[in-house]
Amino acid sequence: MRLTNLLIVLTALVLSGCLWQSPDAEQRTQKSFGYNNGYAPEQPLPFSHELHVGTHQIQCQYCHNQVERSKNSNIPALSTCMNCHQQVGTQLENIKKLRDAYADNKPIEWVKVHMLPDHVQFNHQAHVSRGVNCQTCHGPIEKMAKVYQFSDLSMGWCVNCHRQPENKAPLNCTTCHH
Ligand code: HEC
Ligand code: HEC
Ligand code: HEC
Ligand code: HEC
Ligand code: HEC
Repeated sequence: MRLTNLLIVLTALVLSGCLWQSPDAEQRTQKSFGYNNGYAPEQPLPFSHELHVGTHQIQCQYCHNQVERSKNSNIPALSTCMNCHQQVGTQLENIKKLRDAYADNKPIEWVKVHMLPDHVQFNHQAHVSRGVNCQTCHGPIEKMAKVYQFSDLSMGWCVNCHRQPENKAPLNCTTCHH
């Protein structure tokens, strides 16, 4: 979206007095992006954060190892899983599927849970390096047998945190919009 367009919409938002307020319930259901709290798509393999993070205490960054270095967090490659599953759980049905996919060099097609519209830019490194916890935004991942979207990812949600004085986070439109 062009900046001029953004400014026009901003003016409209200010005039209608709805800037910085969360949208009403009706608007939420019409959104294709954001506002999808609770969204938990079926995954090709039942990977459990509760088991791996909660029970076995594996650190987030062991798998999502780009999150401190890059804008995007990564979903781990199967080779990361194989560090353990060459030996661990080899008798289990789902681990057999995992090992077969690895042997055939076929990646597992994980379904993306979190989505922002194309006109928004997010940056993991900026948040993680400032000590914002994964759980602040993603919720109690260590208790999720299946990942769901915890926050609504609305502009109001981002801005509400950015405007807290102690965060000293930028509020100008181009921080988050191209
Ligand atoms: C053993 C590897 C592993 C560990 C450890 C791990 N994850 Fe994941 N994570 C995955 C895999 C694989 C997926 C994709 C499948 C899924 O969504 O369940 C995923 C998906 C996610 C997603 C959803 C991504 C999307 O599609 O939007 C989030 C958010 C996430 N992880 C956060 C975390 C956090 C926070 C921690 C630590 C508390 C963590 N993960 C620890 C492997 C891991
Ligand atoms: C640091 C070690 C470690 C890593 C890395 C790891 N796992 Fe596991 N995983 C385990 C352990 C331990 C279990 C429990 C095995 C058991 O119950 O015998 C397990 C269990 C599982 C199960 C459950 C099988 C069942 O039906 O009960 C699945 C599925 C699984 N892992 C998938 C993955 C995937 C996908 C990855 C990579 C994204 C991964 N694991 C990475 C240690 C690991
Ligand atoms: C300030 C909020 C915030 C924090 C803190 C945060 N995330 Fe995210 N995360 C997001 C948003 C927003 C998205 C969606 C990004 C997009 O669609 O471009 C996302 C997406 C993801 C994804 C999916 C990436 C993909 O490309 O599918 C993973 C995995 C993830 N986060 C893991 C983590 C981990 C692990 C941590 C902590 C080390 C973390 N996040 C910290 C807000 C956050
Ligand atoms: C829980 C609080 C919190 C939430 C929620 C949050 N942010 Fe941030 N954001 C911060 C903090 C703190 C910084 C770091 C400011 C700094 O170090 O300059 C930051 C920095 C950023 C930066 C980097 C700015 C720069 O120039 O370095 C971008 C881009 C950004 N946020 C986008 C977003 C978007 C988009 C969302 C919503 C999808 C979001 N943030 C949600 C707290 C938050
Ligand atoms: C901290 C991040 C952040 C900042 C700063 C920010 N936005 Fe946004 N904006 C978002 C996110 C995330 C979305 C997508 C979710 C949504 O529509 O609420 C969005 C969506 C929008 C939309 C589309 C709304 C729709 O209904 O599709 C417009 C227009 C917009 N922003 C204008 C602005 C203007 C103008 C500014 C400067 C005053 C601004 N934004 C500052 C994060 C931000």
